[in-house]
Amino acid sequence: MNKKIFSGVQPTGNLHLGNYLGAIKNFVSLNNDKKNKCVFCVVDLHAITTKQDPKELKNNIRETVATFVASGIDPKRSIIFNQSQVKAHSETAWILSCVARMGWLNRMTQFKEKAGKDKEKASVGLYSYPVLMAADILLYDTSHVPVGEDQKQHLELCRDIAQKFNNDFEVIDFFKIPEPLIQKEFSRIMSLKDGSRKMSKSEPSDLSRINLTDDKDQIINKIKKAKTDIFPLPSNKEELKDRPEAKNLLGIFSSLTNTSLDKNINNFSGKNFSEFKEDLSQALVDKILPISNEIKKLLNEKKYLDEILLNGYEKANEIASKKIKKIHEIVGF
Ligand code: TYM
Repeated sequence: MNKKIFSGVQPTGNLHLGNYLGAIKNFVSLNNDKKNKCVFCVVDLHAITTKQDPKELKNNIRETVATFVASGIDPKRSIIFNQSQVKAHSETAWILSCVARMGWLNRMTQFKEKAGKDKEKASVGLYSYPVLMAADILLYDTSHVPVGEDQKQHLELCRDIAQKFNNDFEVIDFFKIPEPLIQKEFSRIMSLKDGSRKMSKSEPSDLSRINLTDDKDQIINKIKKAKTDIFPLPSNKEELKDRPEAKNLLGIFSSLTNTSLDKNINNFSGKNFSEFKEDLSQALVDKILPISNEIKKLLNEKKYLDEILLNGYEKANEIASKKIKKIHEIVGF
């Protein structure tokens, strides 16, 4: 089946192994299948739902494009663009915010996590951010959305919004109902310091994550310091249930090397973490170091990165402008 793919990544700096294994790795294989039409968006409007330094944001936008390209997304085959440039995104988000219900948004767990205890002080944008995400997806008649597990609830909301719009305005099938593409295994990479917390760029300790710009020494050091438990590696999946760190590290190794968890449990069964960590560091260096080096190289080619965004903008804008025109007609503007 020909798939229409859309996904986004926030340019908030420090893209990490979770972003790569949970999402970007999947973007690359979807990009490589000629039957697919892929759109990958640098979601800067989403980024400003929390405070950003304007100068850093500009650099982070380029760094996100560099990361896409360095990871293997071909800008000639896929559209890579910057969300704020295509005005239809913010406009559609407004229209959809009049369709989405407060009750639906009140259920979003990511808002609760990000806003923390002091909800009253969170930005309105942080609250309504899943509606903007729905606008992103629906403008491109997207059939599939590759994301990590943490975005699942937002995709369900997107489907509800699309269905309600189609029903309210009696335009059956106007918005296509997108399917999530979430990997069955390893779709939630956890912190290296705490196997019960998601690997995240907002975690204060840099030791909790492998950044895609880390060098060899940083990777080796972070794996050396990664939290484990006191037991040797397990001999079956059952044992992993109560051993979040072992589960996470074995999952990272399996995902990086495209091998099954079962096979790796067999291989490392009974071994000490120190031995396993050597293989894990090597797998990380093999996969991440070339990406890291390429990102650094591309960051010196600002003109090339800006050209990718300009080309992508033109293509994305053409698609989105047609859709928003129809939305205007349907709504009665
Ligand atoms: P963002 O920028 O937080 O993350 C980008 C992608 O990385 C995945 N991810 C992870 N996967 C596994 N383990 C982790 N620890 C981990 N951390 C992050 C995320 O699931 C995501 O796929 N709202 C989105 C961006 C967005 C979007 C969209 C996505 C905006 N519009 C439309 C899809 C379609 C976000 O903040 O992702």
